Amino acid sequence: MPGSWVVELSWPHMLFVAKSDVFRQHIKLMSRRKTLKIWIRGILRLFEEVGIEPGSKVLDIFCATGRIAIPLAARGYFVTGVDFSPSYIAEARAKAEKRGVSDRARFVEGDARNLDKLLGGEVFDAALWLWASIGYYEEEDDEEILRLARRHVRGGGALILDTPNRDVILKEYEPMVVEKIGRYLYIYHHSFDPFTSRLRTRWDVYRVTRKTLRLVASIPVDIRLYSLHELVRMLERTGWEVDSAYGSYKLEPFNPKESRMIVVRAIAV
Ligand SMILES: C[S@@+](CC[C@H](N)C(=O)[O-])C[C@H]1O[C@@H](n2cnc3c(N)ncnc32)[C@H](O)[C@@H]1O
Repeated sequence: MPGSWVVELSWPHMLFVAKSDVFRQHIKLMSRRKTLKIWIRGILRLFEEVGIEPGSKVLDIFCATGRIAIPLAARGYFVTGVDFSPSYIAEARAKAEKRGVSDRARFVEGDARNLDKLLGGEVFDAALWLWASIGYYEEEDDEEILRLARRHVRGGGALILDTPNRDVILKEYEPMVVEKIGRYLYIYHHSFDPFTSRLRTRWDVYRVTRKTLRLVASIPVDIRLYSLHELVRMLERTGWEVDSAYGSYKLEPFNPKESRMIVVRAIAV
């Protein structure tokens, strides 16, 4: 129609920006004390083993509501979180303020693919790219984010990265999964494309009231799944060297047949 125009949002924009409440439920779930304790303990151990002690500067890429950044700041790290969701960044700032750590937890709103513009020449001791955040865009974008992260971490500094383990996810995945979190019902319709290693999932999200279900979003999530060897190669190409891999933040050794998650630590070379 003349005079009209259509803006197509990428799925990360739909899920994390336009409909940020849809994913906020998952963030709340992952912020429960027991889960968070395991993650923070694991991250601290991975840091301390390579000399990243409290007082160090940490860059948290795709930080969301500061689930990890704020507890690290409370333990004495100086954390800068980057996320493109205005609503998550606002929540992170409010939480940091409430916890009394806003002098050590800073939150920058913007697209991590423009990290240089967002951070200028700032250099950190370590970077985090956590909770299955790699694979949202094209492989070239993942590689670029890793290259940018490397540019902002000093030589000998560390990166912690996690992602679902493709090999186990493929064995386990069901075409349809239903989940209720808080007042939302999620129906995930999965399909896997073996030519691109992308897991495509339509998230149909309903708001549940006492008598009704109201469809509030239908979002086509599309994630590149990686195996450990692919991550290792990509990290090598972008200036990192993987020095250890685990199956979760409990830090048990990575088992390719059983670990649902890959947690890697890489060193900036
Ligand atoms: C699964 S959440 C990870 C949250 C966080 N790392 C944690 O462990 O709690 C993914 C996050 O990535 C953010 N995100 C997605 N694409 C982004 C981009 N291009 N630049 C910055 N943030 C992005 C989303 O807004 C969302 O908060």
